[in-house]
Amino acid sequence: MQIKGALLLRPGERFVIENLTLQPPQAGEVLVRIAASGVCHSDYHVMSGTTQHPMPCVCGHEGAGVVEAVGENVSRVQEGDHVILSWAPDCGQCFYCQHGKPNLCDTYVGPIWAGTMLDGTTRLSWNGQPVYHYCGLACFAEYVVVSERSCVPVRKDVPLTVASLVGCAVATGVGAAMYTAEVRPGESVVVYGAGGVGLNIIQGAALCGASTIISVDTSAAKMAIAREFGATHTLAAGPDVHNAIRDLTGGRGADHVFEAVGVPFVQEESLGAARPGGTLTLVGLSPMGSGTNLPGAIITREEKTIKGSYYGTVNASRDFPLFIDLYQAGRLKLDQLVTREYPLEEINTAYDAMLSGDSARGVIVF
Ligand SMILES: NC(=O)c1ccc[n+]([C@@H]2O[C@H](COP(=O)([O-])OP(=O)(O)OC[C@H]3O[C@@H](n4cnc5c(N)ncnc54)[C@H](O)[C@@H]3O)[C@@H](O)[C@H]2O)c1
Ligand SMILES: [Zn+2]
Ligand SMILES: [Zn+2]
Repeated sequence: MQIKGALLLRPGERFVIENLTLQPPQAGEVLVRIAASGVCHSDYHVMSGTTQHPMPCVCGHEGAGVVEAVGENVSRVQEGDHVILSWAPDCGQCFYCQHGKPNLCDTYVGPIWAGTMLDGTTRLSWNGQPVYHYCGLACFAEYVVVSERSCVPVRKDVPLTVASLVGCAVATGVGAAMYTAEVRPGESVVVYGAGGVGLNIIQGAALCGASTIISVDTSAAKMAIAREFGATHTLAAGPDVHNAIRDLTGGRGADHVFEAVGVPFVQEESLGAARPGGTLTLVGLSPMGSGTNLPGAIITREEKTIKGSYYGTVNASRDFPLFIDLYQAGRLKLDQLVTREYPLEEINTAYDAMLSGDSARGVIVF
């Protein structure tokens, strides 16, 4: 079938809207009509080239839609199901899946980073040449063909626009607080970066019962938004931030610090916001091949812990429906995450808005 999609031809260029050819789903695959796709910074890393990826490609990894057709031997979903797409499909059988870490499943890492379906081929093409799928998804397009392993069926009474955000920002952020860092009631939390991911760390920390939640961002517009999501204090990023954080945390620093920007110097700076014995959780994706220079002597003497958090340590099949239930129960704010909806044709404008630092999340709505 012919579909409209946002194509990235080369790193450093902007998206171009093109007619693409999409093959029908093969065995174990599903055709999904995309309803909405969130504008995450990780796609921008592909656009800017800080994440290397085969090109031309279609990005978009924060999507939700409706199953239109299924290939042979599909058992997870059926036609008409509402699904949230997972950008890290898990096999259920490998070492990581069997040890409670399906977010680290290594069975499909090869094809995912080769930009293909799980069998190593693409379903998308343009002018006769293959087009690669980011994360096995490619949801900046009207339709996707994905593995059934990328599909998590969810209840139908939730708008797909907000459901799409569960597929990355909500899972990554709320999961980082709940599962990676395991924030406890009464603890203090600092979050560097209040974008789609950081705001969800803030609301995840609030859900876990943190009593002091400090949001640090360079954008003044983010202060009010961060408070809406549960920040008790907001600070402008800069040299005085550590002193201000200590003033708010009994002179010690915070129990938990999260970096949700993805810049090595911010990762380095954020360690100083954690108290002795505290934990720094790295959520932002720094450029591939970059290094972060952390002070070993302080980490040892002050017993600080540094953790990575990938996809919020979630189990997508278990947690996407849970986050949707928490939204329906009024415990997670998803409507407020959507600053603005854009048609696919305005995807470059949506990315400009993300880079300005003023919006919570832009969403492409089909
Ligand atoms: N670990 C994972 O599994 C995972 C999943 C999704 C996204 N990410 C990464 O998380 C990061 C954030 O993604 P996002 O979509 O929320 O991005 P975003 O662009 O929406 O938000 C980034 C925020 O950081 C702020 N910021 C910029 N420089 C800053 C500084 N020096 N100090 C404090 N704040 C600063 C910006 O103003 C903005 O509010 C990206 O690197 C993204 O690739 C990681
Ligand atoms: Zn696995
Ligand atoms: Zn993302």
